[in-house]
Amino acid sequence: MLTYSNSLSVEDYCELRSSVGWTPLIEAQARSGLEHSDFVISCREGTHTVGCARVFWDKGYIAYLADVMVLPAYQRQGIGKRLVSECIRYVDAQLKDGWKIKIVIVSTKGREKFYERFGFTIRPNDKEGAGMNMWREA
Ligand SMILES: CC(C)(COP(=O)(O)OP(=O)(O)OC[C@H]1O[C@@H](n2cnc3c(N)ncnc32)[C@H](O)[C@@H]1OP(=O)(O)O)[C@@H](O)C(=O)NCCC(=O)NCCS
Repeated sequence: MLTYSNSLSVEDYCELRSSVGWTPLIEAQARSGLEHSDFVISCREGTHTVGCARVFWDKGYIAYLADVMVLPAYQRQGIGKRLVSECIRYVDAQLKDGWKIKIVIVSTKGREKFYERFGFTIRPNDKEGAGMNMWREA
């Protein structure tokens, strides 16, 4: 049975990153990122963590959706959809009268359609350029 909770260990987070082929992080940095997330959601089957997602919010108008990951063997079973839905629900719960919050996601290549289903718009488009990012390293 799948269960969802707001806890996620550093070990499980790093295992998820590795399972989807993302850049490994040293434990201290992974821990810091998790501790400073505004919202974390994870999915477990028994004690095995099979998916996660998290949100950072500036307490104003920008929220960033990050680390949406589902173990390859558990993909296409609706887990990612539930994880992202919970993140959007978290952001919606922060809205006050007259507020608007923009949720930003940098989609991995080929996953854009997954996000479009929630209402995210693909960039670049008529009004917005491509999303951009860069890594800085010590
Ligand atoms: C992207 C990811 C989180 C999706 O998780 P998932 O659990 O497989 O997704 P779901 O099963 O909840 O799928 C939800 C819907 O999106 C669709 N979908 C899932 N992956 C898709 C893809 N790669 N392309 C297009 N549609 C996709 C499903 O068919 C489903 O459609 P439905 O609601 O009509 O049935 C997962 O593929 C993953 O972890 N990928 C590796 C890490 C990654 O790239 N994460 C995205 C970071 S930006």
